[in-house]
Amino acid sequence: MSDTTPVESQTLGLPQHRLEILYQVSRSLGALLEWTELVQSMMDLVLRTLNAERGVLFLRGPDGSPVPEVARGADETTLQEATETSRRILDRAMVRGEAVLSDDAQTDERFKTSQSVRNLKIVSFMCVPLRRGDRILGTLYLDNRSITALFNKEDLAFLSALADLCAIALENSRLHQDLKQEVRQLRRDVQGKYRFENILGTSERMVKVFKILERVVETDATILIQGENGTGKELVARAIHFNSKRKEKPFITVDCGSLPEHLAASELFGHRRGAFTDAREDRRGLFEEASDGTVFLDQIEDLPLPLQPQLLRVLQEREVRRVGETTYRKVNTRVVAASRINLDEKVKNGTFREDLYFRLRVVPLTLPPLRERQADIPVLAQSFLEKVRDAQPDAPKGFSKAAMDVLLKHRWPGNVRELQHTVERAALLGTESRIQPEDLDLEGGTSGPPSLTEARRNTEEAKIREALLETGGNVSHAAEKLGVGRRTLQHMMKRHGLNREEFRLR
Ligand SMILES: Nc1ncnc2c1ncn2[C@@H]1O[C@H](COP(=O)(O)OP(=O)(O)OP(=O)(O)O)[C@@H](O)[C@H]1O
Ligand SMILES: [Mg+2]
Repeated sequence: MSDTTPVESQTLGLPQHRLEILYQVSRSLGALLEWTELVQSMMDLVLRTLNAERGVLFLRGPDGSPVPEVARGADETTLQEATETSRRILDRAMVRGEAVLSDDAQTDERFKTSQSVRNLKIVSFMCVPLRRGDRILGTLYLDNRSITALFNKEDLAFLSALADLCAIALENSRLHQDLKQEVRQLRRDVQGKYRFENILGTSERMVKVFKILERVVETDATILIQGENGTGKELVARAIHFNSKRKEKPFITVDCGSLPEHLAASELFGHRRGAFTDAREDRRGLFEEASDGTVFLDQIEDLPLPLQPQLLRVLQEREVRRVGETTYRKVNTRVVAASRINLDEKVKNGTFREDLYFRLRVVPLTLPPLRERQADIPVLAQSFLEKVRDAQPDAPKGFSKAAMDVLLKHRWPGNVRELQHTVERAALLGTESRIQPEDLDLEGGTSGPPSLTEARRNTEEAKIREALLETGGNVSHAAEKLGVGRRTLQHMMKRHGLNREEFRLR
């Protein structure tokens, strides 16, 4: 009896206990989504019931070759050998879809010449396909090396029925895995989308920013946000804190540029009573106040040099020393810093410590200037307009095409903040249902010969630059030179997007 047996004619007449096994297996099918678990326990059951020595479930690999998934009674090497050399047998089931049974493989005409059958001393074996519809997902293989004619057609029918159940379990589990994967991906997408909903932007540059944020927001990593004025550094710093697990704890902003130099250390790190004249009692510094929360060090480029080693200590050792004390106290404060200028320059000229710079920029995040991400302009402009309309529903509801063109072509030295102010002003001035170019109070595009206003503006900027260069960025002196008030000059500098830092003497 060494023929290929059609299964259909053999399904009747299974003994009672085998029917019970089938019933058990099919019942656990619903309960166990972890399909290898199911297959393992099923395999044990089958081996016992059929007296088989070894059992292997092979799945069809991506290239069609059999990959062992669950094995019983076979060690690694045997399995390896069997897989490699029993292709003839496995392929009959896996490629041709046949249920194969052999009483004595050693004398079986079909396998007599097979090296593997001889090497592995296989005597009795059965091999059936795992089918779903017209696809074959793998095969179920059983053998015995000492007993001839161990399996009969009834056993083969039984194994085929089990294989059918296995195939269903496999497919269910694959579907389940796919769904889980998809749900995870969707959830991630949705979170990514709404998590930073205040930060608008779909340009490639901003998408990169979001990706970095997504990765680091939950961590305690120190983040250095670099970007020109008005690019959203503070907005991002807040988003980092309020999307982290520290969100219920304090978020404290320190403007490093305006720290009074003699009080700075005490502000940041605290002091001991009597440490200096005004120190009437012990006081915690901001890093201690914000322990478990976040300290946002804005304008870190202006952090006085004497304070830098102490900040480095906070970042490295997570500890502070109050002014007047000798011991250090542990703090658990996350640091997010922002800089308007590239700190490389300050490191080069010795006004910013290199070791601190490296500690700060564990995660560097650069917010691109608005002129480098024009794609974001329409959505930002519309959103600022909507905000005006919330308070003032009869404000214009959109932008004329010409007005949008002006917005797109403008160079935005003040970046998003300038865009916001421009739109708010235009919304108040605009009398039509859509904002017109003249409501914007900006010059047209940057192409073509400069208009009179533009020429005047360019000259103005050049003069201011010249004065700032000469005075090394001293605004009062530059204002004197130009014959305008200090505040006026500050205002003009802002309009031209000039920063006195650029002109500081090196
Ligand atoms: N991507 C953005 N989406 C929505 N609003 C933004 C975005 N970027 C900036 N803004 C808005 O622009 C204004 C300026 O942003 P922010 O104060 O964060 O900038 P900044 O980089 O800290 O500026 P500065 O260097 O002058 O301190 C804020 O009103 C902020 O809400
Ligand atoms: Mg800011």
